[in-house]
Amino acid sequence: MPHVVSVPVLTIDGPSGSGKGTISALVAAHLGWHLLDSGALYRAVGYAAGVAGLDLSDVEAVTRCAEQTKIRFRAAAEADGTRVWVNGHDATDELRTETAGAAASAIASLPTVRQALVQLQLGFRKSPGLVADGRDMGTVIFPDAPFKVFLTASAAERAKRRYKQLKEKGLSVTLGGLQREIEARDSRDASRAVAPLKPAEDALLVDTTGMGIEDVVAKVLSVVQP
Ligand code: C5P
Repeated sequence: MPHVVSVPVLTIDGPSGSGKGTISALVAAHLGWHLLDSGALYRAVGYAAGVAGLDLSDVEAVTRCAEQTKIRFRAAAEADGTRVWVNGHDATDELRTETAGAAASAIASLPTVRQALVQLQLGFRKSPGLVADGRDMGTVIFPDAPFKVFLTASAAERAKRRYKQLKEKGLSVTLGGLQREIEARDSRDASRAVAPLKPAEDALLVDTTGMGIEDVVAKVLSVVQP
């Protein structure tokens, strides 16, 4: 039997606003590894369901939508980040909105929707390695990953970061409103029956409250390159 060396995976899980997206992209670029933004998959399905006018509580219809939606990631100029195409349409900007986040969170609580996205996520594990950003990367999708991190930050700090991001994009939001939305989404994600948001037992917990991006990147990289 040939010895199969499995492709290494670094899972980075945590709640929204913990800095996962930024940190995962920087760490993947540093390591020269592939990047899976699993939240974008749930956002894409929520978005496609919205475009199709589906009732998000219609489990069968939303599951079919998850099975059939064509999602493609395309690397763009660095400053622009990765662009996401949903059923042939560049939906990158729509996917970043709070509405898309709320729709993603709603459909992500359906076990059949999560199941429909498993193979797609496993397919990202390619040589030389993968950085997988999400909520259940270390617990459900890549439980055998050799490197696992769970990022957190206080809800107030996460709301502040999100507020700054959205303001820079010219969107009109309030800090209090954002913090309430973040807390509501956290509790929905943490209390759902399937793949609840929780750290894997073997994950390194990193609280990023008050930490700069560089320091978080260095801490996460130290897990892979001690
Ligand atoms: O990370 P992001 O904010 O893009 O994720 C959007 C939503 O998708 C989350 O609030 C969560 O409900 C869901 N999600 C999930 N499992 C993942 C990634 C995201 O349930 N692995």
